[in-house]
Amino acid sequence: MPLSQRLSLPTLRATGADLVHNSAATTEAIRVELRSGLMATPAFTSPKYLYNALGSRLFEAICLVPEYYPTRTEAAIFDENLAQIAQAVGPGSTLIDLGAGNCAKAVRLFPALLPRQYVPIDISADFLAQALAPIRQCFPTVEMTGIGLDFSSSLDLPATVRHEKRVFFYPGSSIGNFVPAQAAAFLGRIRAACGADGALLIGVDLIKDHAILDAAYDDALGVTAAFNLNLLHHLNGLLETDFAVQDWLHRAFYNPQQSRVEMHLEARQALTVRWPGGQRRFAQGERIHTENSYKYTPQSFAALLGAAGFDAIQTWTDDCGWFAVMHARAA
Ligand code: AVJ
Repeated sequence: MPLSQRLSLPTLRATGADLVHNSAATTEAIRVELRSGLMATPAFTSPKYLYNALGSRLFEAICLVPEYYPTRTEAAIFDENLAQIAQAVGPGSTLIDLGAGNCAKAVRLFPALLPRQYVPIDISADFLAQALAPIRQCFPTVEMTGIGLDFSSSLDLPATVRHEKRVFFYPGSSIGNFVPAQAAAFLGRIRAACGADGALLIGVDLIKDHAILDAAYDDALGVTAAFNLNLLHHLNGLLETDFAVQDWLHRAFYNPQQSRVEMHLEARQALTVRWPGGQRRFAQGERIHTENSYKYTPQSFAALLGAAGFDAIQTWTDDCGWFAVMHARAA
């Protein structure tokens, strides 16, 4: 069966040793969720809808713009502390990569971490399948099971995922997309899924000078703006809405009261968005809230990990204290 056909399977199903597609939410459930967010005041959408095929590529481009420090800084922390991090993780792990995208972050660590099995999970299943094919060829001794899954709604893993030494890898500070109470709950679900001998290796973005945060989410090239605006194309495809990208502005800024960067799309003028069976009027300047990216201190994040049932927390940071990599064991 061609890969494209396998990827369109509607329910959880193992397809040999390669890719599993678990679309927990039906298209209709996704539509209901998205429409209710669009009708709310203020309107909002979940950040997961930023990642269609183009969105995943634009995010890769964001990681290369000079203002977006997290990817580079995290990579430098891994480079500088690789021996210690590898010692904390130990060889032979079942490495479960949450939001794997192009899988590059995890694959770079393979020679040091020596995982037994690699389990990349991503909501963008097509993107993941394409990324994984050449990686399998390069590392024939690492077992691989790719999973197309919205892991924010389910961490149910197929039977092909080994139970021994599960290490959840959650880099890039994607945990920042959850509000802190949800982050605590999600970390608790990881703790439940990783078992008694499991662990978590996570990247966490730290509170810093506000101008640096503002620039990281509103780069001069406009790559982050394109990433945010591309959501409208994705919504048009999912909901049959008639959003016109040129009617909207990218807005991103640090909100110090909430310790988070917020991304919004702002109507340039009064307009009405229509879809089959509904419509929403936006006043000039009215916004759709598209993403939160919470920032922590090493202490505040360690407290969250402790509350979720992790201990033996080890933390590595860069010289500027902009980003942290943390390893924690199941308590
Ligand atoms: C992938 C969620 C970690 O919050 O920094 C980058 C996404 N949004 N620029 C982040 C993002 C705008 C990113 N995460």
